This record gives sequence, C-alpha cells and structure tokens, in this order.
Amino acid sequence: MIDFHSHILPGLDDGAKSMDDALEMARVLAAAGYRAVCCTTHHIRGAWHLPAAHVRQAVADLQAELNLAGIDLHLLSGREYYLDEFLLSELDDPLLLPGGLLLVELPARCDADRVRDTLFQLVRRRFTPMIAHPERSSLLAPKADNADRKGFWGSLFNSKFKVNDSESQDNSLLSYLRNLGCCFQGNLGSFAGGYGEQVRHNARHLLRAGIYTHLGSDAHSSARLAVTLSDGLREVERLTEKETMQRLTGCAYQYETS
Ligand SMILES: [Fe+2]
Repeated sequence: MIDFHSHILPGLDDGAKSMDDALEMARVLAAAGYRAVCCTTHHIRGAWHLPAAHVRQAVADLQAELNLAGIDLHLLSGREYYLDEFLLSELDDPLLLPGGLLLVELPARCDADRVRDTLFQLVRRRFTPMIAHPERSSLLAPKADNADRKGFWGSLFNSKFKVNDSESQDNSLLSYLRNLGCCFQGNLGSFAGGYGEQVRHNARHLLRAGIYTHLGSDAHSSARLAVTLSDGLREVERLTEKETMQRLTGCAYQYETS
C-alpha cells in the first residue's frame, strides 16, 4: 500500500516534531503494510513555505535515517498545496505525487467560485489536482439535514452526476470538479471517526458514491496512528470491494525509488 498523504517530514510543518517521531510514524506505517509514503508537507504562504529543493533534501535525509534504522518504507516527494490566491504562482517547481498528482487542500472558509476557477486553471495548465479529504470540506460535504431531506447523497449513487444541479451548490461543485478530472483523497482517520460522526458519515457516502480515487493517513504524529490505520482500513474494507480497496491504497502503483 501507499500512504498518499502524510506529514512525516520532521520539523517542516505541524507534522512530525522530531526525527524520532518521524521514525516511529514510519515504523507504524510499515507494520500496517505500507511500502511507500508520500511526504505531503503543507505549503502555505505566510505559514509553511519552503523551496522545493529543501523538501526534497528533507525526504532524502529521512530516507537515509529509515535505511539506517532498517525500516522498509520508501519515501516519495510531495506537498499539500493550499488553495489560495497565491497557488497558481507557486508551481514553477511542483512536487507531484505518483501519477503526476497535485495534492490540493481547500481552505476551511473559501468561496466556491474561487475553488472552481483555480482548479480549472490548474487543469488548463495540465496538472491533475487531487482534492485532500473532501469529506472534511464544508463546500463539498453537504449539511446533514439537507442531505437527507433532499436526497443529496442518493443523487450521487450510481455515479450519475449533473454538472449544474440547481438544487445544491455543493453537488454542483463536486460534480464540476469530478468532471474536470480531479482526483479525491479520503483520510483514513475520517473513516475511523477521528474527526467526528458527521465527517465519518460524509466519508462513508463519498466512498459508496465512488468519489474517492486515493486514501491517505494525513498523519501528523505517531500518536494513535496504528489504531487510526487499522480502524480506517477495516471500515473501508467493510464498505467496498477488494479491487476498489486495492486501487484506493495504491497496491498497483509503480513508482520510482531513489
Ligand atoms: Fe494534510
């Protein structure tokens, strides 16, 4: 398996605080059956904003430590790009995930038009954006009461999407991004209940609706990581076919190792 979303690089963002913490995260991932992890450090102007070369060096340094410690895990470069007004000017030297994916995080508060326009511009520039944890986004996950009353989620089943559904702006945005060719990465912690019942509910429905293309831990430390991985993977396994599970966890992915 490949973990497509992780903050395992120590000291670069709000993820692993030390090399020891990063090594412990790696041990837990390897023990859970992962063979590779994408190091998707936050990239947010004004908060965590490092040159790509710095991130690549941090990946190489941690890989050397893993090798020394005998931990069988391949590290892959990546980034979690924040969708703000600067994103389109931050891509001269992009750090892409396997398959050429650009991991994009939607801000907690963001205008749907900005999301639509920025993702369109990315695709126009031949990037394939992957939306991080859509189940946690207020723009992409509908409110519970509306969802049930309007049959929102039901409309997503059987993969029948409408691009301009006038009933729901959320539905329209999710459909638009999907039709644009975006990928969607779910957090295992969402399935494990780590973000609460509403997010778990959203994650289950997005999974059943066939929205997800990838899964990741989005781990920030080793605390409770083993439980999150096992609970999350078990829940996804319960809800989906074996082939889907393998696809979401990157079992068939080829990637280059350095
Ligand atoms: Fe993240």
